[in-house]
Amino acid sequence: MTDEAPDLARLTATAAELSEGRASGLRRLDEAGTLAVVLDVTGLAPEARRPLEDQLRAGLLAEAGVAEVRVAMTAEKKALTVIAVGSGKGGVGKSTLAANLAIALQRRGVKVGLVDADIYGPSLPKLLDSESVKPEARGSKLVPVPNAYGVPMLSTGQIAAPGQAIAWRGPMAGKALEQLIDASWGDIDTLVVDLPPGTGDVQLTMIQRHKPTGAVIVSTPQDLALIDATRAISLFEQADVPIIGLVENMAGYVCPHCGGTSDPFGHGGAEAAATAMGLDFLGRVPLMMGIRLASDGGVPPAAGTDPAGEPFHAVAARVADWLGARKAG
Ligand SMILES: Nc1ncnc2c1ncn2[C@@H]1O[C@H](COP(=O)(O)OP(=O)(O)OP(=O)(O)O)[C@@H](O)[C@H]1O
Ligand SMILES: [Mg+2]
Repeated sequence: MTDEAPDLARLTATAAELSEGRASGLRRLDEAGTLAVVLDVTGLAPEARRPLEDQLRAGLLAEAGVAEVRVAMTAEKKALTVIAVGSGKGGVGKSTLAANLAIALQRRGVKVGLVDADIYGPSLPKLLDSESVKPEARGSKLVPVPNAYGVPMLSTGQIAAPGQAIAWRGPMAGKALEQLIDASWGDIDTLVVDLPPGTGDVQLTMIQRHKPTGAVIVSTPQDLALIDATRAISLFEQADVPIIGLVENMAGYVCPHCGGTSDPFGHGGAEAAATAMGLDFLGRVPLMMGIRLASDGGVPPAAGTDPAGEPFHAVAARVADWLGARKAG
């Protein structure tokens, strides 16, 4: 091999070394020593891309027989793992569960982001104490807003002014959802999506255009909520979205004074329903004053060491197992 005909196998190995394994497809374009190489910058922060490109080019130019290096940068669109949190009925604790599940997954090492798809009644900005923060746009994409809990988030609640009525019709709602999910998520690989209650436009758009990897269904224990939950379950099942499992929220009231437990909404209904439908039961979250107060204060219980966070960590452990089994299978 002479200086005029560079050894492509050796240069390929050099390129891999220079680019932390991100270079591929190295070829020689002409006799003059022009090389072309593809640099995959998927998941790299924009400010880290140019230095890596420069390092690759300079390193290759230093090799014998190389006169010019053309680097084509590509960023593969990452397939995000999307966990939809839904319920048939409103007010059963979806948003509370979604926020705490995301934080608990983050604590387990999952690179997770949160989307508030409840475009008619967004509540995650309040739950994560980021109501006043506006997401910026980079190019045509929104940049998720960081928060103290390490779970970047996007919500229409951060785009609309607080208290402003959001009366979007179907197509606009779909567009909004698209912007939230197809955002500049960086190295996030899992999105927890808080859905509005029911089985309306947003759920359909979600299923048709951003098919979730799996769905977590939240219900309170009483029959009426469970009947609605069944409706949400069949919507996902018809669309072949696997149900990760059912969470029973507001199960058993823990009295802040005496510590005793009572069951205002009944007990065990969701677990029995999960068993009857052949679904996994992901856990029970008690009705606790501490959960409500912490949530309203913008401090999700799963972020602290208070016992009120424990049920959410238990649910997250099961969801993480499901994700792990899915990856392994
Ligand atoms: N386990 C719990 N213990 C005490 N309060 C709770 C619990 N779960 C939820 N809440 C409270 O119940 C209210 C409704 O919860 P949340 O907003 O999470 O429900 P949702 O299902 O998302 O409602 P919507 O259908 O309106 O989106 C909130 O004030 C929340 O703090
Ligand atoms: Mg909600």
